[in-house]
Amino acid sequence: MKVLDAEFVKGFMRMADDGWNQGWHERNGGNLSYRMKPEEVEEVREELKPGEWRPIGTSVPKLAGEYFLVTGSGKYFRNVIIKPEDSFCIIELDDKGENYRICWGLVNGGRPTSELPSHLMNHEVKVIATGGKHRVIYHAHPANTIALTFVLPLTDEAFTRELWEMATECPVVFPAGVGVVPWMVPGGRDIAVATSELMKKYDVAIWAHHGMFCSGEDFDLTFGLMHTVEKSAEILVKVRSMQPYKRQTITPDDFRHLAVDFKVELPEKFLFEKEL
Ligand code: 13P
Ligand code: ZN
Repeated sequence: MKVLDAEFVKGFMRMADDGWNQGWHERNGGNLSYRMKPEEVEEVREELKPGEWRPIGTSVPKLAGEYFLVTGSGKYFRNVIIKPEDSFCIIELDDKGENYRICWGLVNGGRPTSELPSHLMNHEVKVIATGGKHRVIYHAHPANTIALTFVLPLTDEAFTRELWEMATECPVVFPAGVGVVPWMVPGGRDIAVATSELMKKYDVAIWAHHGMFCSGEDFDLTFGLMHTVEKSAEILVKVRSMQPYKRQTITPDDFRHLAVDFKVELPEKFLFEKEL
């Protein structure tokens, strides 16, 4: 089968286009990767033409030999549906998880996203944490979430609690909470290590003054997670723009009751007493 006819590739392209339509991907902002299933690799095998091995920039031994669909560095999400062969690629990892080679795509040259170390280290952590269920890692630049990194303390507690309070669905959609990475130079191994450390506990990591990473089982769940966090951030931005404090909100005991009815575990460390 042709790569562009495969269902998982269509899902990847639709998600990229949905992100573009949300306004989360100015210029080449953001990147997306998908860990392919063995049967999906076989489905498109006829079109795979392996190139030269190149270093990943980190080591992900648990992902040795796996194939990924990943956006290209400097490529625009806007163009994913317009010129797919130029915008993303399929890569294969070597038997140590230290090098990759491009097997399809990026027909006009280039390389996978500069955030490849973060994507692959997050995938590796999630393979272990979810028994291989999570397959999608998504990085975007959603404005409201970024705006909050200028006014809230850069802690997991502050962000989780504020985001939970702004929409009742939030503690159900991300009951483990969200992690926050302080400002760091993007594109390297250090920020990848910091992010993947948070991904051991959470499915969401917010990069201060930069953007967000989400992990999930499939394209819908991962996009939906980013969308839910960003919507909640938007509500907080609106509320704070109207007045500095909330008049009323969801209380710690309200969250405890919600947790019982919705059968989710909400860590007590996020249910502290605080000002409105
Ligand atoms: P790439 O174009 O290399 O994917 O970088 C975009 C980005 O958002 C970096 O954080
Ligand atoms: Zn970015």
